Amino acid sequence: MAYTVTISNRDNVRYQVDGKRSLLDSLRDRAVDLPYGCKYGGCITCAAKLTVGEVDQRRQVALNNRQINDGYVILCVARPTSDITIEIGVESHDKLYRNPFLDPLKPYELKADIAAPKEA
Ligand code: FES
Repeated sequence: MAYTVTISNRDNVRYQVDGKRSLLDSLRDRAVDLPYGCKYGGCITCAAKLTVGEVDQRRQVALNNRQINDGYVILCVARPTSDITIEIGVESHDKLYRNPFLDPLKPYELKADIAAPKEA
């Protein structure tokens, strides 16, 4: 199934992408310049911010619950399950990192929680 991806911080440019492919692969095929590293969801380099819509990113292991709740998505494994709007690049990373000494994660924000299956 095809979905529309809007990149809000690139003049709202839109692309049609295949829901079976990762957003990183789909967008790079369209010559969108995106950073990436591992390409298996482990290093966080390709993170972007999802502002509208839904993705399936169950394969990612880089984000904790706080980052997921803040809307971050891992483009190398995320596949759209609806039309989406994302912010890409370093501009999207405003809340991605925080100082763990000044602002430690709460237990419910730790990554172990995301391994639990979602309630249907
Ligand atoms: S490239 Fe490493 S998490 Fe996507």
